[in-house]
Amino acid sequence: MPGTTQVRLEVSELYVQYPTPKGVIKAVDGVNFSLKNESLGIAGESACGKSTLGTALIRSVQPPGRIVKGRVMLNDEDLILLSTNEFKNRIRWKRIAMVFQGAMNALDPVYTVESQMKEILTEHQFDGDMRQRILDALDQVGLDRSVAKRYPHELSGGMKQRVVIAMALLLDPDVLIADEPTTALDVLVQAQIINLLKKVRKEKGIIILLITHDLAIVSELADKIAIMYAGRIVEFGSSADIYRNPKHPYTQSLIGAIPRLRANEKKIRFIKGSPPSLIDPPMGCRFFARCPQAMDACKNDPPEIKTETGYVRCWLYK
Ligand SMILES: Nc1ncnc2c1ncn2[C@@H]1O[C@H](COP(=O)(O)OP(=O)(O)OP(=O)(O)O)[C@@H](O)[C@H]1O
Ligand SMILES: [Mg+2]
Repeated sequence: MPGTTQVRLEVSELYVQYPTPKGVIKAVDGVNFSLKNESLGIAGESACGKSTLGTALIRSVQPPGRIVKGRVMLNDEDLILLSTNEFKNRIRWKRIAMVFQGAMNALDPVYTVESQMKEILTEHQFDGDMRQRILDALDQVGLDRSVAKRYPHELSGGMKQRVVIAMALLLDPDVLIADEPTTALDVLVQAQIINLLKKVRKEKGIIILLITHDLAIVSELADKIAIMYAGRIVEFGSSADIYRNPKHPYTQSLIGAIPRLRANEKKIRFIKGSPPSLIDPPMGCRFFARCPQAMDACKNDPPEIKTETGYVRCWLYK
């Protein structure tokens, strides 16, 4: 893209765990992917580790959770090696920003949009014209400038979601992580938010990571898709490839579960059973117990097998 910066994000062997009285939850358990100025859709069932992965990239995993090991390269810098302070001063919001899951409902009810935005700019030592920056950010997300003076309860759900996206864009990040930005919005507003993210991406050429449990909405935005299952990415590749030719039986089931209004399928297919515990996951393939194509080999852990645009973690392709 002309006039935009080149951004490379490379995540390798990332492990994030939450110690709990019942045992250690291995929420992200050896995740790998890389992106070059591309957008990524991260999809998978509830509790598979999507938000934990997002928060790890911005070093905001909720305690007692912690990054156990891994590499997160942003261009040529390993972010995991930075001290907490250095990460906070140089990277968070300025290079990587995140719209946290449920953020639009966590706006402070007693402050106007403008004062909440000002607080972010002040906290990150923004030295330009704050008011102008705030108005520009509102323009960027398609909100009227009068929204600056409003309180959260005066805004619709779609407007609040635009406000939290504007907040994340205030310091002009290279990477934007949006965690379930369309959940709880009606379908028309969902489409508007996805279009907004598309526009931001086109204008700025930034990397967008869109986390969602709904595979149907990522196709519009994502160049690449990562399908997560029980703490791991089981399939990664270009979205065209994954929609047209899903390889992992889990990806196939997820795509099969998207309701097709115009097709003659009367019943929505769903995946029987539930994912394994992340405290004591099974030795082999984690989808084994639910997989319609399981075989003996699947009792061993499948490696990442290279595909045309990424990889699949499944013995069927070895
Ligand atoms: N603060 C925490 N303390 C303990 N365990 C946690 C914490 N946050 C998440 N977990 C656990 O880590 C695992 C992954 O959770 P995570 O929130 O990352 O999943 P998710 O894919 O984002 O789910 P959802 O689609 O419901 O948002 C789950 O087993 C969850 O219970
Ligand atoms: Mg989540």
